[in-house]
Amino acid sequence: MSGKNNYFLTTPLYYVNDKPHIGHAYTTILADVLARFHRTAGEEVFFLTGLDEHGQKIQQAADEKSILPQKHCDEMAPRFTDLWEKLHIRYDDFIRTTEKRHKKVVQHILEFVYEKGDIYFDEYTGQYCVGCERFYTEKELVDGKCPQHDKPLEAITEKNYFFKMSKYQQKLINYINENPDFIQPKHRKNEILGFLRQPLDDLCISRPKSRLNWGIELPFDKDYVTYVWFDALINYVTAPGYLSDDKSFKKWWPAVHLIGKDILMTHAVYWPTMLFSAGIPQPKTIFAHGWWLSGESKMSKSLGNVVNPLDLIDKYGVDPLRYYLMREMVLGQDASFTPESFIKRYNSDLANDFGNLFSRVSTLIAKNFENVIPEYNELTEEETKIQKSAESVIMYVNQLIEKMRINEAIEEILQFVRSINRYMEQQAPWKLVKTDKSAAARVLYTASESLRISALLLQPVMPNRTEIILDTLGANGANLKWGILKSGTILKKHSPLFPRIKVEEPVAEKVKQTIQDNIITYDEFQKVELKTALILKAEKIEGADRLLKLQIEVGEEKQQIVGGIAEHYKPEELIGKMIVIVANLEPVTICGVESNGMLLAAKKGKDLSLIIIDSDKVKSGFKIF
Ligand code: MSP
Repeated sequence: MSGKNNYFLTTPLYYVNDKPHIGHAYTTILADVLARFHRTAGEEVFFLTGLDEHGQKIQQAADEKSILPQKHCDEMAPRFTDLWEKLHIRYDDFIRTTEKRHKKVVQHILEFVYEKGDIYFDEYTGQYCVGCERFYTEKELVDGKCPQHDKPLEAITEKNYFFKMSKYQQKLINYINENPDFIQPKHRKNEILGFLRQPLDDLCISRPKSRLNWGIELPFDKDYVTYVWFDALINYVTAPGYLSDDKSFKKWWPAVHLIGKDILMTHAVYWPTMLFSAGIPQPKTIFAHGWWLSGESKMSKSLGNVVNPLDLIDKYGVDPLRYYLMREMVLGQDASFTPESFIKRYNSDLANDFGNLFSRVSTLIAKNFENVIPEYNELTEEETKIQKSAESVIMYVNQLIEKMRINEAIEEILQFVRSINRYMEQQAPWKLVKTDKSAAARVLYTASESLRISALLLQPVMPNRTEIILDTLGANGANLKWGILKSGTILKKHSPLFPRIKVEEPVAEKVKQTIQDNIITYDEFQKVELKTALILKAEKIEGADRLLKLQIEVGEEKQQIVGGIAEHYKPEELIGKMIVIVANLEPVTICGVESNGMLLAAKKGKDLSLIIIDSDKVKSGFKIF
């Protein structure tokens, strides 16, 4: 069994259909912070992350680039690992589902579960969402659409293999009830228990190769590949050594799985039932965090004109962004990202409180004690209080981290930093040096030691900048006991760690402007989905002289857009024209009419012409490069 001092932490395996975005970065930073806290607490940690490389959407992404899926995955993988390096992520293993070690375990588990009689063959008709890579049942749909992507689903009828998930429904309910920490936070556990009140369907776990061949072949039918989730989830046991290294597997399993709330069902229902069938113990905890929102919507790759939090790195550094993401989100709930709140948080906590304590202490020691941490004699009651409060902060932070209450742990540390700033104000060592130098020495030693402890406590969140503080103080060891700092140490030189960000109103505009200049990168341009669309119907909009309402066909989908072309085209002459639209714009309502996309036209002064495609070869829904 996994020892008390072993901590196995996982992130989801990210899809490689696109480059990494803030959602991926957040879960990975969160895992890194937790892993570092646990390492500091003396535990042995195994932090696993990686990539989910099979499935329809990866195949589609490769097809769009006209390259083989494996090549696409190989091109995408460094984008993730490079970002992890930039974000100071220290993982212990990086697994890709296309690796041999993984395929072997997936096939073994499939074989085992099949032999056991938990997999059967059947015909099925279902609603498939490529975005989620899963079928949805009618009762899960919202207005007939995917609840995650708000898009129509693909109706698919085919013969497939099914995993008898329903067989384990009661066992799962019992397990969740008997292990209150299994699914966290509590409201997510209740959500799953609520879902399990309805009879559970069996899980379709295969795809015929004739439809999708980018996957792991079923060991008992070479015409089929496994379905993404039955493949990807298994990584969590492959990496610690299931089948390949029994000792290592026993050392690490069970894991703590960190996930976002959108993949709760797959982790808290599919995965546990798969494990029951395979005879593998359950994970320790499945913890679902909330989403970073921009306004009302989930931040992801299509950020539109919103500031991408990852762009703040080049301007303000990685550590402040890590700090902000960890401090601002209450784990389990959604949080809103705005550049204003980032700057506010940075200026108040990092520049005013933490950075200020550091620069005050080092400046005063340089000025009055020849840059050497001073000797002190007796401590007064004030310093004994500070020492006690440091000890209780250390203890409390550990407890909060154990409960995954990271934002509260950070606030606890900052409260301590603020109390030291107040102590400095009250004691005024800059005055004391003139009247009682040994008292000034005592105050500056106490403030420096408090700073060292605060930096150590914040190290998992801001590994780089706290290292500079510790290095300046000549105290790089991770000892959280009071009194480690050595009097007589010469302070190293340093530049200001958290220079204040000057804010001119309006902040958002300013930040947006500096970050987004006129030039866009290739990746940014790739975000824009340009497609061909066939006009089926066109009509005027009452009360809006310039607008026409168009019903268009984009591949399989029909949609409505509004265009400002009424002064240039009569509705009847538009029918049957193949135009070009921006297909992935957020829907807007114009003069009370909903518009899902934007048409492209060339315009100068009063002259306007739609971009019309005149070729029999081109059908609606084609992608424009
Ligand atoms: N491949 C599956 C997971 C398989 S795990 C065996 C997958 N991949 S993903 O690339 O879509 O990664 C999603 C992760 O990023 C999820 O945990 C998701 O919640 C998280 N985020 C995506 N956007 C997010 C925000 N805006 N905010 C926070 N995290 C969100 O799902």
